[in-house]
Amino acid sequence: MKLPLIVGNWKMNLSAKEATELACKIREFANKNSYAKVVLAPSFTLLQGVGQVLAGSGVGLASQNFFCQEKGAYTGEVSAGMIKETGCEYVIVGHSERRQLFGETDELVNKKALCAIQNNITAIICVGETAEQRTAGKTFEVIEQQVRKALVGVENQDLEKIVIAYEPIWAIGTGENATVDQANEVHCLIRKIVAEKNSGNKNGSLSILYGGSVTPDNCKELLRDPEINGALVGGASLKINSFCDIIRSADNK
Ligand code: 13P
Repeated sequence: MKLPLIVGNWKMNLSAKEATELACKIREFANKNSYAKVVLAPSFTLLQGVGQVLAGSGVGLASQNFFCQEKGAYTGEVSAGMIKETGCEYVIVGHSERRQLFGETDELVNKKALCAIQNNITAIICVGETAEQRTAGKTFEVIEQQVRKALVGVENQDLEKIVIAYEPIWAIGTGENATVDQANEVHCLIRKIVAEKNSGNKNGSLSILYGGSVTPDNCKELLRDPEINGALVGGASLKINSFCDIIRSADNK
């Protein structure tokens, strides 16, 4: 049985000092128990320092983004090799903030996922619908398209290096999380699509995380659902107490 995966996406927050202090505290907490596999995703400039804090501990390091070229004239971008050097074993790909604010397309998300796999980095691929799409009854259609396009060219054996995070856009940073039923039905859909596409995943071993206003108050119920294999946490991962409470709540999985 795989441990639930709890990922803290710090987004564009924290100074170097704040980041290393928080990482130290999380490392201490996570090393004392095994409720979940914990991963931290600081911003690019914090990766090195946080990577040093986490080195040799059970807590993993993720980049929030990268660019899918090995090297060259790509001003402002960071390669898979560069993030790996800081200790990253994970990378978040296609977060809705990258799609909406920085124009990332399904095609680019796919290229990044394939590049991460090639570099032996686990891609945490984010998908999710807007409030308008949900209201219009298009949630399943949108998720299916995002998942199918993200996984073009991903072979059965590559699925070990893929995690999918369902993050409804209307739930991100709003305090309005998806209900367990809403998350469950989308997670089931994602699992079905991946099983159809990659028959090697028939055993359903793919990890599917839920993200969007996850807090100590709602995480227990969400994580209890067998289809929800962990959480991608934004705001609540920036405070030691709330993040540790969320990690602890994975205990009853
Ligand atoms: P919040 O937990 O702040 O809603 O953010 C979710 C998220 O976008 C994680 O990637």
